Amino acid sequence: MKPKILDCHSIVQIKKRCTFAIISHPDSGKTTITEKFLLLGKVIHEAGTIKSRKSKKYAKSDWMRIEQKRGISVTTSVMKFSYLKRYINLLDTPGHEDFSEDTYRVLTAVDSCLIIIDASKSVEKRTKKLMKVARLKKIPVITFINKLDRNSYDSLKILDDIEKKLKILCVPITWPIGSGKFFKGVFNVYDNTVSLYKKNLKNFKENISIYDYSYLKKIFSKYEFKKLREDWELITSCYQNFNKKNFNKGIETPVFFGSALANFGIDHVLNKLVKWAPCPTFKYSSKRKIFSIEKNFSGFVFKIQANMNPKHHDRIAFIRIVSGKYKEGMKLYHVQNKSIYVVKNAINFLAGERFIIKEAYPGDIIGIYSKGNIKIGDTFTEGENINFYEIPKFPPELFKCIYLKDSLQQKKLLSGLKQLSEEGAVHIFKPFVNNYIILGVIGSLQFDVILERLKIEYNVLANYRSTNISFIRWITCNDLKLLEEFKLKNYSSLAYDSNNEIVYYSNSLFNLNIIISKYKEICFLKTK
Ligand code: G4P
Repeated sequence: MKPKILDCHSIVQIKKRCTFAIISHPDSGKTTITEKFLLLGKVIHEAGTIKSRKSKKYAKSDWMRIEQKRGISVTTSVMKFSYLKRYINLLDTPGHEDFSEDTYRVLTAVDSCLIIIDASKSVEKRTKKLMKVARLKKIPVITFINKLDRNSYDSLKILDDIEKKLKILCVPITWPIGSGKFFKGVFNVYDNTVSLYKKNLKNFKENISIYDYSYLKKIFSKYEFKKLREDWELITSCYQNFNKKNFNKGIETPVFFGSALANFGIDHVLNKLVKWAPCPTFKYSSKRKIFSIEKNFSGFVFKIQANMNPKHHDRIAFIRIVSGKYKEGMKLYHVQNKSIYVVKNAINFLAGERFIIKEAYPGDIIGIYSKGNIKIGDTFTEGENINFYEIPKFPPELFKCIYLKDSLQQKKLLSGLKQLSEEGAVHIFKPFVNNYIILGVIGSLQFDVILERLKIEYNVLANYRSTNISFIRWITCNDLKLLEEFKLKNYSSLAYDSNNEIVYYSNSLFNLNIIISKYKEICFLKTK
């Protein structure tokens, strides 16, 4: 039977949705750009509201104290604003590479992304990694080359780098006129206009025609004018025209230049982003393609955040709506738990404040309260048994043994760690043979965050001891007798994870491979 379709009003609402994330190497200007977007969207009214590392001011997109303390962004928030008749859901991604897992999860919840490149550094390591995921998921990508007010690489070299290292075709939409001290603005390939960078010019005018030679000659030096003409000819003749189909397939990326700090060029990006970025269309589920315009609600959890209000120890599960319409008080079917969840108070966040959502559409993110029974990757529907296999899983790479400074706090420690593991912030393992608790993470900074959060949010003082565990594998076997034999023989190298599933741990890859080759019937899985 064909699924029922939403009403016209709702379909118009879906078409207005634009859900995207900004990804970049740390320090490229993601936070600065986010702030300028929110200024353009009139969500905030003064610059500096988001973050100032040096002054360690309150950060709109950073919730946690450790973020403010270190000036890094480690969690992911959702910011909603409207611009030129589109409703934008901007999902913030953690800035530090140790939290790449979170960023990858965010990429499953967006329909497009903006990639920031620091013009003085060109393509950096983390950008390459993130772009690989974006390409795998065929997410349309817009590129902003930032910090043109600083000494920059040659723009052609940056584009060449992007094409080679990020494996995506570049289509310049704007092009810089000079850089650093001599940055004078950009020309816009499609509007045939020049936008001037006020700071370095006396005789300033808003958008000027590229053919207004008499004016351009007045404000630019002979060399600058000649270079501008040459660049114009080069760019318009050498690069192909923007092709929306190729953009939607993730084959090509429109490229913009500017300076986020000086709020120059940001409007160029946002104007085109709202024009070109796709609205929610469909997602693959375990059974079929789920279209956004279907009447029945469906969505998946891409993030769980514990203790957004430390006083209440609450957990919020963030659901990306895939189809249907969310209405306050609606009953949702939690596919994994086979239970009904009445959503009375779905929330959205901005600047750490909560807003109750009355209705929401595909592309929107709703936060629902969880008592610990909702997991990352879970699906909610209006009854259909489907699953969205969107969330990638990563095996932990670093291990430490956690111990308490005050042993009476054991219960609190366990409950704190349980919540943090549900968020996907840490893996917990309890060896068969002793009372230790082993933590597994992907980036070492995560260890510090866990200690800090245990202290602040659960009032638990803990510390780490090193452990010689280097690799873990989840083990399964269809033959239960064989599994029992394996367990008996390897008792001292086994542990339970937080779901009471069994893992095998080893101190070296060499030893692990010996065991894997010895027990061919046992499956050793990198992720659950
Ligand atoms: P991130 O979120 O990607 O990590 O980068 P963020 O926006 O925090 O920017 C990193 C640094 O780069 C900040 O300086 C910021 O002011 C600066 N920056 C961002 N965009 C531009 C730009 O267009 N031109 C120039 N010249 N600088 C830019 P900071 O000194 O590290 O921190 P802060 O005290 O200014 O916050």
